[in-house]
Amino acid sequence: MLKRPLGRTGLMVSELGFGCASWWGKPRFDERTALGLVHEAIALGVTLFDTGASYSAGEAEPRLGRALKGRDASGLVIATKAGTWHAGGGRIARDMTPQAIVASAERSLRQLGLDSLGLLQLHGPAASELTDEMFAALDGLKRRGLVRAVGLNSFDPAVVEHAIGLPGIDVVMVDYNVLRPEREPLIARAAAAGKGVLAGMPLAMGHTRPLLSRLRAPQDLWYAARAVAHHRGELAKGRPFRFLHRLPEITGSQASLAYVLANAHVSAAVFGATRPAHLRENLGASGLILSDAVMRQIRDAQDVTC
Ligand SMILES: NC(=O)c1ccc[n+]([C@@H]2O[C@H](COP(=O)([O-])OP(=O)(O)OC[C@H]3O[C@@H](n4cnc5c(N)ncnc54)[C@H](OP(=O)(O)O)[C@@H]3O)[C@@H](O)[C@H]2O)c1
Repeated sequence: MLKRPLGRTGLMVSELGFGCASWWGKPRFDERTALGLVHEAIALGVTLFDTGASYSAGEAEPRLGRALKGRDASGLVIATKAGTWHAGGGRIARDMTPQAIVASAERSLRQLGLDSLGLLQLHGPAASELTDEMFAALDGLKRRGLVRAVGLNSFDPAVVEHAIGLPGIDVVMVDYNVLRPEREPLIARAAAAGKGVLAGMPLAMGHTRPLLSRLRAPQDLWYAARAVAHHRGELAKGRPFRFLHRLPEITGSQASLAYVLANAHVSAAVFGATRPAHLRENLGASGLILSDAVMRQIRDAQDVTC
């Protein structure tokens, strides 16, 4: 597994990170398999794990804590998010006040069983919430040794653009995959400003494959329902990229990850997976170089849709 610097944080991370979110964190997903995925990822060289206080209805963080229990996490970068939490009944509540962020970080540390977080990311803040008071609070967490680096996760390019100009932000997590080439100038500017860049949703949530072909188990139905409810545009955009799943030597998921990692400004691609075979397949994408011909096909498909 290749490693890359996380901006100017002084941290190195595996170029493929494992996302502890969504179905992975849900109690309906077998605990042994969930923990086994983390343990296998570590064994295969993954050092970056990304979760969030509100992920999987609040169940992902404590589950990751159980996966790490009794293990030496000193070589890992555990990233979580603050500013949102699960308010019951499927509702996500948010509080982006500095006090709430500090309290959330302290709670995350307890849930994860860690003394220090590698990365604390504000989860979808508005630009107006990135105040001096917020950065004083985040700096306080750093000075107390509770947080190593600070970032934000936003799919709003205007917020990310604003954050790029803020010295208190070390890392940005953006939505970047074959369907989102329009993020490339933003990513280049973030890297030029010394920010670490994490690509969330690097597999485009699987939408480069037909939805019906993916329905084999309960998690597939859950992801499909999420797609139909929130990502219909993505489903349609994914159609011209189906050729990725018919390439002779690599799988479509590997090609999708290799595309993201071909961008040298990306520190890591953070994917989600609930099947061990998917995990292994995806980790095989580290170091893969796409041929010029495949890159051209991807660009052609992007010209059609994006
Ligand atoms: N989605 C968001 O809104 C969001 C927001 C902020 C941050 N993030 C971060 O980004 C991470 C990844 O996001 P994500 O999980 O939504 O999207 P993703 O990684 O783009 O896609 C995950 C989907 O791809 C499938 N998959 C994974 N490997 C596969 C393979 N080799 N072959 C076929 N299908 C495969 C998974 O299926 P299986 O479960 O069957 O393996 C799952 O349905 C999250 O865990 C989180 O850390 C996401």
